[in-house]
Amino acid sequence: MEKVKIAILGFGQRGFVYANIIKEYPDEMELVAVCEINPVKKPLIMNLFQIPEDKYFLNDEEFFKQGKLADILVISTMDRDHYRQAMIALDLGYDLLLEKPISIEREEILAIAQKAKELGRRVAIAHVLRYTAFYQKIKELIQSGRLGKVTTISQTEHVGYYHYAHSYVRGNWRKADVSAPMILAKSCHDLDIIRWLVDKKYLSLSSFGSLSYFKEENAPEGAADHCYKCKVECPFNAVEFYSKNPLWMMIFSLEQDPVKVLSDESLSYSRCVYKSDNDVVDHQVVNILFEDDITASFVMTAFSNEIHRSIKVHGSKAELEGDLEKSEIILKPYGKEQEIIDVRQLADDFSYHSGGDRQMLVDFVRNVKKGEKVSGLTDIENAVESHYMALDAEDSRLAGGKLIPSTYLKVLEK
Ligand SMILES: NC(=O)c1ccc[n+]([C@@H]2O[C@H](COP(=O)([O-])OP(=O)(O)OC[C@H]3O[C@@H](n4cnc5c(N)ncnc54)[C@H](O)[C@@H]3O)[C@@H](O)[C@H]2O)c1
Repeated sequence: MEKVKIAILGFGQRGFVYANIIKEYPDEMELVAVCEINPVKKPLIMNLFQIPEDKYFLNDEEFFKQGKLADILVISTMDRDHYRQAMIALDLGYDLLLEKPISIEREEILAIAQKAKELGRRVAIAHVLRYTAFYQKIKELIQSGRLGKVTTISQTEHVGYYHYAHSYVRGNWRKADVSAPMILAKSCHDLDIIRWLVDKKYLSLSSFGSLSYFKEENAPEGAADHCYKCKVECPFNAVEFYSKNPLWMMIFSLEQDPVKVLSDESLSYSRCVYKSDNDVVDHQVVNILFEDDITASFVMTAFSNEIHRSIKVHGSKAELEGDLEKSEIILKPYGKEQEIIDVRQLADDFSYHSGGDRQMLVDFVRNVKKGEKVSGLTDIENAVESHYMALDAEDSRLAGGKLIPSTYLKVLEK
């Protein structure tokens, strides 16, 4: 195989990221076909990525009718489309780079993994954080024994007040029954990282959380239904935000003028954050018990000034704390000098998810080219458990924090 041929199904934000990375490795990989349902994007995508007319499809039925057009299919459509599309693509012979979440239902997640195994296809799941220099270093420090026996981990995902308003109040992930519960859609990355660092099976968990703030009863007095006609000073004003952040507006409109775009009241992005139809949680905690008495806690919050992830790992010989976006890890051996690790010195690239997107894609393409198995970091087999953790956490939250024994252990027993 000379170059690895790649097709992209669902050319939104993620599709663009993958296409841009593919373009940077012309000797190794090539984007040969695109399927994107939104016709407005067609001229831009065809032009930017040199896709011929007969390899550009506006619906997946037409796309799949062509049979196998590439070695790898990237599936970066919305969460609830993944299962159907992945099952068809596996039958057609594609290896898959499948966006997280794999699916919304436990049975569907297992069915994709099972089919891939039966047919001998590679399926990589885009758990990109595992590929970042930051989490790779933490994993290495744990494995080196410098922390001693790890007893507990805590990770916090600060979603960022503006990111939360964009994606989870106004955007595509605002309703769990259309996309997925927040803990699966957003935080399966975090549960996956915790699971990967602990390297033990989880035994049980419990979770609390709710949508407590972004609802009508919290609207300031005089707030209008849509920001373009609102006089209240507010950190969530859509016109102000998208005027200052035009790239974020490109996610839902290719028009240039934010006032014109956001005067369209049918657009969910124009709504007051207190008067949308959102139902996903704005804060959630999960407590997890793993084998060997290891415990972990995870916090997701919409209420942060910046988007960032922080972690603490406590061991018998040392503790460690770090912040992904600050690229800093502080190792504190008990009774000795602390060591500050500047993660920026450990890798060349910090674009696209702190370098994780690129490393994952390049790694997968090289696996396919060499005819190897998927790297252990992204293989679907390694991603199933954290999806079960997320689904168990959601069941616990909905049951008021009930302790849920791992449903994944039951899968393993079968
Ligand atoms: N790995 C990560 O870190 C990460 C980050 C963000 C999003 N995601 C996941 O990636 C997926 C895509 O997210 P996004 O942010 O790119 O969303 P997006 O809305 O920007 O892109 C989805 C695209 O798919 C297109 N589409 C929808 N149905 C289609 C169909 N049947 N056929 C062809 N095209 C179709 C839409 O028109 C849109 O352009 C989601 O599952 C999301 O949860 C993963």
